[in-house]
Amino acid sequence: MIEREEMEIPERVVAAHAPSEEREFEVGLRPQTLADFVGQEDIKENLSIFIEAAKKRGEPIEHVMLYGNPGLGKTTLANIIANEMGSQLRVTSGPALERVGDLAAILSNMGRGDVLFIDEIHRMNKTIEEVLYPAMEDYALDIIVGKGPTARTLRLNLERFTIIGATTRLSLLSSPLRDRFGVTHHLNFYEQADIEKIISRSAKLLNVDVDEPAIQLLASRSRRTPRIANRLLRRVRDFADVRAQGKISLQICKDAMCLLNVDHLGLDQTDRRILQTIIEKFGGGPVGLSTIAAATQEEVETIEDVHEPFLIQVGFLTRTPRGRMVTEHAYKHLNLDVPKQTLGL
Ligand SMILES: Nc1ncnc2c1ncn2[C@@H]1O[C@H](COP(=O)(O)OP(=O)(O)OP(=O)(O)O)[C@@H](O)[C@H]1O
Ligand SMILES: [Mg+2]
Repeated sequence: MIEREEMEIPERVVAAHAPSEEREFEVGLRPQTLADFVGQEDIKENLSIFIEAAKKRGEPIEHVMLYGNPGLGKTTLANIIANEMGSQLRVTSGPALERVGDLAAILSNMGRGDVLFIDEIHRMNKTIEEVLYPAMEDYALDIIVGKGPTARTLRLNLERFTIIGATTRLSLLSSPLRDRFGVTHHLNFYEQADIEKIISRSAKLLNVDVDEPAIQLLASRSRRTPRIANRLLRRVRDFADVRAQGKISLQICKDAMCLLNVDHLGLDQTDRRILQTIIEKFGGGPVGLSTIAAATQEEVETIEDVHEPFLIQVGFLTRTPRGRMVTEHAYKHLNLDVPKQTLGL
């Protein structure tokens, strides 16, 4: 049993990004089949038809783009698609593809029906992107051989493969790239009931004993994101091991959430600090994103990818052409008086 002092309590318990040791833990909880993937019913139905049709025709599937906030299941779905197709999956990412040669080497080694998963595809550099166009459309690589006046282009034919791209920012993708994906699926935040199912499923896999009310409480604080649900479960499990012989009850959950500084809506210290800063330093807004980042000493990307989407979701923040503004609900959540101009008086 771990002593309380040894318990690792990360400051950013609700951050949607996963550090590497957590990614290892996630692998064990990752669903392997569409049937195991909880929620996102429309996407699952579409994908199952799409996969079955391709299988019937004996053809590889078209290129698929998955986009959505961090931790909603893009990597998981990419694995599932390859698995359901019975395809070989190769994994790379936008920033990992540094030279044209890197991509050419991967593509020329792909067999028919193999799947290449390109994570963070919005971070791929432009020259590489241009090599990808004919590869995706005509299954060919145009390679320049030689230099100067004697240089010529050689066309290398490729096997018919599938690219699955994942991104948190579809808007950063150029339209020629976007257009080359046959299907695009947007993963949304999950319903409370789905997050509860995910927590029950993970609890079984981890072999931990969790009460129904405890599951509901954890789900309500998970920001409608599976990764955060699994993380909170893991933190509470540590807490229960130390305090309650491993049994996760409602009270244990409440105590753990208190210690982790996660409030009843799932906001953490950083979310609250962002709202407070806009209120205290900028009169509730409107204020630009980079100003908020400077004032809170957070990175612009973290605010934009992790905190802002959720704060907008719960109705605490709005985006206006002149910047971000906090809403009446945010003042109430923080137990502050709502100023007259926010109430529209
Ligand atoms: N629909 C789901 N059902 C069950 N578990 C899920 C589901 N979606 C995600 N998970 C769990 O949440 C974890 C995070 O999901 P995943 O890594 O696929 O997110 P992601 O969208 O790729 O995030 P990122 O943008 O950070 O790469 C997975 O390990 C998986 O266990
Ligand atoms: Mg991922």
